[in-house]
Amino acid sequence: MTEIKLLPAGEQYIDQMMALEHECFGRDAWTEESMRFEMLADHTRYFVLLEEETVRGYAGLSKLPSTNQADVQTIAVAPNLRGRGFGRKLLEKLLTEANHLGATEIFLEVRADNPVAQNLYASLGFEHIDTRKRYYQPDDVDAWIMRARLSEGSLREPIVLGIESSCDETGIGIVRGNTLLANVISSSMDQHARFGGVVPEIAARAHLEALQPTLIQALHDAKLSMQDIDAIAVTNGPGLAGALMVGVGAAKALSVASGKPIYAVNHLVGHVGVDVLEGELELPTIALLVSGGHTSLLLVKDLLDDVTLLGETIDDAAGEAFDKVARLLGLSYPGGPAIDKAASGGDPKAIRFPRGLTLPKDMEKHRYDFSFSGLKTAVARWVEVAENNGDDFSVADVAASFREAVADVLTAKAVAACNEHGIKRLLLGGGVVANARLRELAAERCVANGIELRIPELNLCTDNGAMIAALGAQLVMAGRAPSSLDFGVDSTLSVETVHTK
Ligand code: KG4
Ligand code: ZN
Repeated sequence: MTEIKLLPAGEQYIDQMMALEHECFGRDAWTEESMRFEMLADHTRYFVLLEEETVRGYAGLSKLPSTNQADVQTIAVAPNLRGRGFGRKLLEKLLTEANHLGATEIFLEVRADNPVAQNLYASLGFEHIDTRKRYYQPDDVDAWIMRARLSEGSLREPIVLGIESSCDETGIGIVRGNTLLANVISSSMDQHARFGGVVPEIAARAHLEALQPTLIQALHDAKLSMQDIDAIAVTNGPGLAGALMVGVGAAKALSVASGKPIYAVNHLVGHVGVDVLEGELELPTIALLVSGGHTSLLLVKDLLDDVTLLGETIDDAAGEAFDKVARLLGLSYPGGPAIDKAASGGDPKAIRFPRGLTLPKDMEKHRYDFSFSGLKTAVARWVEVAENNGDDFSVADVAASFREAVADVLTAKAVAACNEHGIKRLLLGGGVVANARLRELAAERCVANGIELRIPELNLCTDNGAMIAALGAQLVMAGRAPSSLDFGVDSTLSVETVHTK
């Protein structure tokens, strides 16, 4: 997409502004005369969005010198550019301008039947203060009067609460725009330990018990109450259906009780979106997501509109492989940290374990897919043979060799995806990112291939509510419509569905 610039409006754009005015407002459109008059008046400020030399949007503000109040007179964005944050950009510009002009209150009117616009305005701090009955004629639609107060020039970014419950972590996060305010996680991991893996029913029950205290703690950490929240975001897939249902049920209840809009978002895309909390998320990027529940390789060109699944595990997830191999080596749960520890004194070259789906015959159909169940079986067989022979084998060597096989295949495929798609950027996410060898090998291979490697802080890599809140805030800031309350959970939700409407 070509660059879109925001500039002060001038006479030279008036024809194009009028064309857009008619396209957006039809018979409610202003006349060219009033547009020109307002645009050129001393007490107004008008801006246009330009793509090359074409006007794609405009907005105008009026501020009379004798008052501290300003009015948004008009705002329009070309239909094909909607939902990408340009309406927000225009409004932010108007708010900044109003502030420079000394306004402390800013008003606007919006159709009562336009919740998308209302939500955008609300996310910028506008409140519905009055209604003008049957203001828009001839359709008899009411106008909402909305007002924002400008305090010390600070523009309001949306405060979003995120709820995550797709696996064994109950996560509640709160963000303001791209800033993290709270990230509280309650894990039921200990309750799964004696089973060597996550038991869905136990996870669901644990979410039910943990949700309320986790929410209270998150609000406490952020020093906010539910009234301060602008929107609620919740994971509706992929994940364990029963576990997801608990989070979604809670989010819907909160939304209904508080009247706040709700956004159903994709867990996997949340792992990518979390990077906005640590600075700019640079796109396009390849993302490797590895946890106890998923192992996926994504191509992300646009966080909200263009995410593609390049490949995923065809059997066990990488974390699951760590957990299962730890169990057969007599190590503790979760297996990842235990194997990492055991492997630290071992020789990664002691045993050459198989690398799943890396043979030439796999390259066509499974180029970017993973398989770990054969590796797990190979380790089991190796240990069995050694035990049957009465060999005194080194657990450290087995752990190191297994870990090497996993790290090797994950990083090799991720780097290949970067090279083959010409995208020199790799983002890691998921609990397995804690793995020392995976980090080391990823860093080594990225340097060797000129790839920029991004690894968010670990408590943002493991499942958490902040990543869901962050993705929700991106949707709010882009002016996307909230989900309707009848969305369900989808345990196999595709990465292409970033937001379920
Ligand atoms: O993202 P996460 O917290 O959520 C779930 O999928 O539940 O990931 C947990 C997974 C577990 O399978 C755990 O064994 C694995 O991440 N893990 C690790 C390490 N730390 C945690 N795997 C390898 N090495 C580690 N150091
Ligand atoms: Zn996850």
